[in-house]
Amino acid sequence: MIEIGADGRTWLLSGPTSSYALRLTDRDELLHLHWGPRIALADAEALAAAPTPPERPFESWLDGREEYPVEGGPRFTRPALSVRGGGVRGTEWRFLRWAEGDDDELQLHFTDAVHGLQVTLSYRMRGDVVERCAVLINQAPEGSPELEVLRVDSATWTLPLRERWRLSQLHGRWAAESRLVRSQLTYGERVIGSRRGHTGHQHLPWVALDADGATEERGEVYSCALAWSGSWRISVHQLPDGAVQITGGSGHDDSGQTLLPPGTATATPVFAGLWSDGGFGGASRAWHAYQRAHVIPDADEVRPVLYNSWEATGFDISEEQQRALAGRAAALGVELFVVDDAWFGARVSDRAGLGDWTPNPDRFPGGLKPLADEVHALGMRFGIWVEPEMVNADSDLYRAHPDWVQHHPGRARTEFRNQLVLNLARPDVQNYLWEQLDALLSSAPVDYVKWDFNRCFSDPGWPGEPYPQRLWDGHVHAFYDLVDRLRAAHPGVAFESCSGGGGRIDLGVLARTDQVWTSDNTDPLDRLAIQHGFSQIHPARVMAAWVTDSPNTQLNDRVSSLRFRFVSALAGVLGVGGDLTRWSDDELAEARGWVELYKEIRPVVQLGELYRLRDPDGGLCAVQYVLGDDAVVLAWLPAQAYGQEPAPVRLRGLDPAGVYACRETGEEHRGAVLLHHGLRTGLRGDLDAAVFRLRRIADAADITEAYSGLAQS
Ligand code: DGJ
Repeated sequence: MIEIGADGRTWLLSGPTSSYALRLTDRDELLHLHWGPRIALADAEALAAAPTPPERPFESWLDGREEYPVEGGPRFTRPALSVRGGGVRGTEWRFLRWAEGDDDELQLHFTDAVHGLQVTLSYRMRGDVVERCAVLINQAPEGSPELEVLRVDSATWTLPLRERWRLSQLHGRWAAESRLVRSQLTYGERVIGSRRGHTGHQHLPWVALDADGATEERGEVYSCALAWSGSWRISVHQLPDGAVQITGGSGHDDSGQTLLPPGTATATPVFAGLWSDGGFGGASRAWHAYQRAHVIPDADEVRPVLYNSWEATGFDISEEQQRALAGRAAALGVELFVVDDAWFGARVSDRAGLGDWTPNPDRFPGGLKPLADEVHALGMRFGIWVEPEMVNADSDLYRAHPDWVQHHPGRARTEFRNQLVLNLARPDVQNYLWEQLDALLSSAPVDYVKWDFNRCFSDPGWPGEPYPQRLWDGHVHAFYDLVDRLRAAHPGVAFESCSGGGGRIDLGVLARTDQVWTSDNTDPLDRLAIQHGFSQIHPARVMAAWVTDSPNTQLNDRVSSLRFRFVSALAGVLGVGGDLTRWSDDELAEARGWVELYKEIRPVVQLGELYRLRDPDGGLCAVQYVLGDDAVVLAWLPAQAYGQEPAPVRLRGLDPAGVYACRETGEEHRGAVLLHHGLRTGLRGDLDAAVFRLRRIADAADITEAYSGLAQS
């Protein structure tokens, strides 16, 4: 809902529990008024009428107060917009008009006379999430100089004045993604981002700030997340007077993103913001609801249980071996069988074949269709792995088009994992990939594509292109266009975003993929921390988790029970990734039971509300999902100390006046007791885990009445 003040210069956007307000001064400065609990328009107008701070010679009264600080004029804070053209740098805008777009979008249009530049700031409430972005249009007459966009951030968020802000972020590296860390904010800037061409394993593009010691279930939390899958930057800036602003957008520096010739436009990705007063858990649930309702395709459909043989077979694959695995996977109850790397070209190791997207004739003499047909006959869907943005030097594609890779003339072409990055900003590369992938998806009944990206940009050159910097954003737009086009042409095909595990997870990729590969780390204990971080922003509905072999030879040789491995993976979209030909009959039978159990709890896990009951800090760890009358609790005990029984886990999100039956123990529990005193997990020893399925079966009042009736009779 958008409300406008009487003079047409104050705007108030409201969601179910929160409001966002801004004000245009009579000098056309756009000031931030409010972001927090729901307020009335009269409250916003009272904020707008507050006296302006006194002018001081060494500070700007605008700094820390503007909605979108541009470069130029009396501003010393980080600018969100920096342009140059015709020898003039910066922006000096006048307000043009405001407009309402689709779905309650507020658009504020400004114009800079010197550059002929129109700047549109866009705001849209989706639930309590505010989506913001900016659009630049060069309206100068034809023949005028091009405008260079040195930096265009999506938004600047302004927090209320508080003491002692704390910053939460999700940091990591390969095989150790999305680990939550909290630290005190202090004066100056904290900058996170990626200069790698993809979102990166090092940081998820998300930050959260709390000032008054928010806990998991209580307190105010401000959080922001960027919908972009290339290089990016988020700066959290505490100004000299204590004001805090968060500025974020695509690109990692201010040295040039794109050229805008007259008559052209560019739009930033969305930078979404959420205020919540339900603690970190409440904020996560709001982010999850937002993504399920507005970001993830078909999010109300549950994802199938998949099998992927990568950890079992690596590059050494054959049709016969995949058929054998498919038979075993189907017997477990798996619903989607995915052939990973090494089915194409000369791909018998990571040294060759990337770029040649036709089946390896030695390995799949009849192409992929016979295997796909067999997988379908076994009652499963069929998926394949691709890594379209990359090429091996040892490939037909590279031999034919060595200029199609990112490179600087005369310089080394750096290889990581023996591969080079295709320059997707080139239209000829885009056409080639479209033709190859469209043909591939037409050649066999493929239902699922795991789309990988296994190295960072290191030589972002584009010989012959006058403005090679546009390669960075151009690559991401081309990737998005390609996936969007493939989805439109092959509507039955689902997509997974993978980048050596969790290197490309963000709201941008989630708008066009059905799930993500969370991490190459499938160790079930390490996964608890990775999943804990992931859940801060993204829902279980997209978080793929595989059960692999024990000992975990890929990573750490840790030995864990099938139970522990399964319960760890039940927390997301379940997959199996072990070498099933080496699992014993007992193990296969046990696994079949877990898959069956998962299918039963899957709607609650994938579509329910998540409560993090205990953090993975070394002791008992537990999460809970609630959907309607059903609740599922997953609990893990890494190691028991002193023979002590872990304390009961207090549940959340239940009806205190309800009675809940537990399928595992056969016991009935009163909601109020579970909420206040908790559930005993009975876990003991090392690496123990359990699942509890609870269903609300009655009102506690009815039971109490029946009981007192019995007692009286
Ligand atoms: C990296 C992925 O994360 C793995 O799951 C697997 O698909 C390999 N790439 C294949 O090369």
